[in-house]
Amino acid sequence: MTQVLFDYTRQDASGASRIEHAWARVPLAPPPAERAALKARAKELLARHDAVLVAHYYVDGDLQDLALETGGCVADSLEMARFGRDHAARTLVVAGVRFMGETAKILSPAKRVLMPDLEATCSLDLGCPPDEFAAFCDAHPDRKVVVYANTSAAVKARADWMVTSSCALAIVRHLHEQGHKVLWAPDKHLGRYIQEQTGADMLMWNGACIVHDEFKGLELELLRKQHPQALVLVHPEPPQAVVAQADVVGSTSQLLKAVVDGQAREYIVATDNGMFHRMRQLAPGKTLIEAPTAGKSATCKSCAHCPWMAMNATQGLTACLETGSGEIHVPEPTRSQALGCIERMLAFVAANPSAIAQPQRGFVRNLGSA
Ligand code: 13P
Ligand code: SF4
Repeated sequence: MTQVLFDYTRQDASGASRIEHAWARVPLAPPPAERAALKARAKELLARHDAVLVAHYYVDGDLQDLALETGGCVADSLEMARFGRDHAARTLVVAGVRFMGETAKILSPAKRVLMPDLEATCSLDLGCPPDEFAAFCDAHPDRKVVVYANTSAAVKARADWMVTSSCALAIVRHLHEQGHKVLWAPDKHLGRYIQEQTGADMLMWNGACIVHDEFKGLELELLRKQHPQALVLVHPEPPQAVVAQADVVGSTSQLLKAVVDGQAREYIVATDNGMFHRMRQLAPGKTLIEAPTAGKSATCKSCAHCPWMAMNATQGLTACLETGSGEIHVPEPTRSQALGCIERMLAFVAANPSAIAQPQRGFVRNLGSA
């Protein structure tokens, strides 16, 4: 049963102003000579500060390359969390959005966690204010509270489980099989997809990713007609009309793996276009086509690139290491209260690798830190 009882109507208004603010903060790409010097400086600073760079696939390609060239990782949310927790470095630099930095700090309170720009956030996080979420939970004490990783530490502090796109389906299926009803937040599209796949009783928060919400079902149908041999790869955050056309639905790592392993020559990809950097590196012979965000029904708020991910740049990386800016703090008791739902997910994933590996209407095995 799907019930959408909580309507967070302020999301568009607050989100829009913050989107403009985020784009205005995106640093200009440096000229080639300066770019090489910045990268060299970043490498030197990472080594000097015993720091490791943990980057998401959506950030600037130079940051992804720097992470891989210096022993860091480029990964999805789940792998970023595991990598940061397990790495011996005293400082983690998280190139991504704030919830990723907070998750790293919650898991590793003794490490210093820095971000190139601390204001890099996420529309799902913005759309789920802790006080209103707490009231929602209080009103439904009979449900297991399952939150997507893309939420604040304070929201996680109220949750029984945190999930990422890699393991959300397996964990909700597990809870459903145990007879639990679920309170889900904040992504309504991911929640609907999980509900369809598992049949679980889910009460949904009404949030959305401003990037993935822009993919258009009708225009995707037309594009598929022009590329009938192409495989369609979709992150689970877009609307139903887009996910329904997918050959593979999965996390960013899972979509990358689908391109690397796939037999097709052409791939239509419905996720943030920062993903194409790593896909091109690992599958150079394949043709990658962006799924449409524009068209007759478009409002084009995002054009398939996350403004907050775009705020991450090499300039910010060197600045945070030079000055100690962008440090993540998660005060107690929020940190220890939020830790429980993250550790529960990590323990489930460690104990059930096959649950995540099993194809689920196109889900493919998690790739790890590719
Ligand atoms: P992944 O965990 O699949 O990388 O997703 C994170 C995200 O923010 C997608 O928009
Ligand atoms: Fe959040 Fe969407 Fe950006 Fe991912 S792409 S960080 S879900 S706004």
